Amino acid sequence: MKIGIDKIGFFAPHMYIDMVNLAEARGDDPLKYTKGIGQDEMAVNPVTQDTVTMAANAALQLIDETDREKIDFVIFGTETGIDHSKAGAVYVNSLLGLKKNVRAIETKQACYGATAAIQLGRGHIALNPDSKVLVLASDIARYGLATPGEVTQGAGAVAILLSKDPKIMTIEQESTYQTDDIMDFWRPVYSDVAIVDGKYSNDKYIEFFADVWSAYKEKTNRDFSDFEAICFHLPYTRMGEKALKPHLESMSEDVASRLESNYKISTTYNRLVGNIYTGSLYLSLLSLLENQTDLKAGARIGLYSYGSGSVGEFFTGILEEGFREHLNTANHKELLANRKEVTVAEYETEFLKELPTDGSSIEYDEESDPATIYLSGIKDHMRQYKNKKS
Ligand code: CAA
Repeated sequence: MKIGIDKIGFFAPHMYIDMVNLAEARGDDPLKYTKGIGQDEMAVNPVTQDTVTMAANAALQLIDETDREKIDFVIFGTETGIDHSKAGAVYVNSLLGLKKNVRAIETKQACYGATAAIQLGRGHIALNPDSKVLVLASDIARYGLATPGEVTQGAGAVAILLSKDPKIMTIEQESTYQTDDIMDFWRPVYSDVAIVDGKYSNDKYIEFFADVWSAYKEKTNRDFSDFEAICFHLPYTRMGEKALKPHLESMSEDVASRLESNYKISTTYNRLVGNIYTGSLYLSLLSLLENQTDLKAGARIGLYSYGSGSVGEFFTGILEEGFREHLNTANHKELLANRKEVTVAEYETEFLKELPTDGSSIEYDEESDPATIYLSGIKDHMRQYKNKKS
């Protein structure tokens, strides 16, 4: 049975900063940000968007009445959960008006959470072929103002509907994965910013790719020539390029140039949004599918998922006949084009805003946030969400 991506969509908050302005404000050469790191813009999330609202906004555009009937598993991958106990999937289930006979859980392993969700979802559909599984990948990447990691922040969500006989991409059976207990990036429960050993995290990302790729080659006898493109987890858009580079000399010129050129296209949206942790790999896949106009049905796409700490996985998909008709390309381009640029000072103000933690209430104005679903306030330690259309 074919199982894979039936629908895919994303959401980014309505504000962004220009990386040239951020570089100037930090006293850095703008070329370091735009060329060395490879980021042009970075999403700025208002206090009215958290990982629940972003995931719900991403999913809202995908789900139709048939899907509502068939979804019986909602899996929320995030490292920016809003509660130590309750899963974000439970809130999203209710905000989308999905039925109650649904399993709703959260998966966590840094940027690997959504890949774990996809593999769990595939297993669920293999056992229950008529089910559909909603996978959500939603995160807010925060390192702190004027830190080395600041240039690799971002915010956004990707929603993926998994089903049998998928319309966009069948996920193939073979995958290779590995886990190693290392401290390259983590976020203690008391901290709202990540702690990172930047250079070490880069090295481990590259090393994990080499390991899972070599295990994949051995397991399948496939080579780079079997791939039309490889999408990478993109904490910043130069990162995947660094992992691919050591392998280029083992490829023919044609294959190397195809993978390099498709890699560049696969960074299109990520350059404008920044790191969205567990959704980054899938935003890269979406960038490729919606911007590479020569992709053909039957093409094999590689996917490299890396979640610091660390778990890495290499897996693959085959594009389905007519996949392009099932993408939401125009809406995604419009969403990005309609965002509002803010100044570095405005971004800093948003960054420093905090929700009350002492049980006091706060209400937020719906006019300040154009998104359909938003955080309308906090009351008695409970987040209040609103869907403007319901
Ligand atoms: N013009 C052009 N390029 C320039 C330049 C200039 N004027 N100045 C510097 N550069 C280049 C540098 O040469 C370098 O390029 P190379 O990597 O090709 O050598 C690049 O810009 C970055 O410069 P630095 O290495 O000096 O940057 P930095 O020390 O300030 O930090 C970082 C970069 C380590 C990525 C840091 O931003 C960081 O810690 N980010 C968070 C961690 C992260 O994203 N890690 C990625 C792997 S872990 C992961 O994937 C999980 C996850 O999502 C977090």
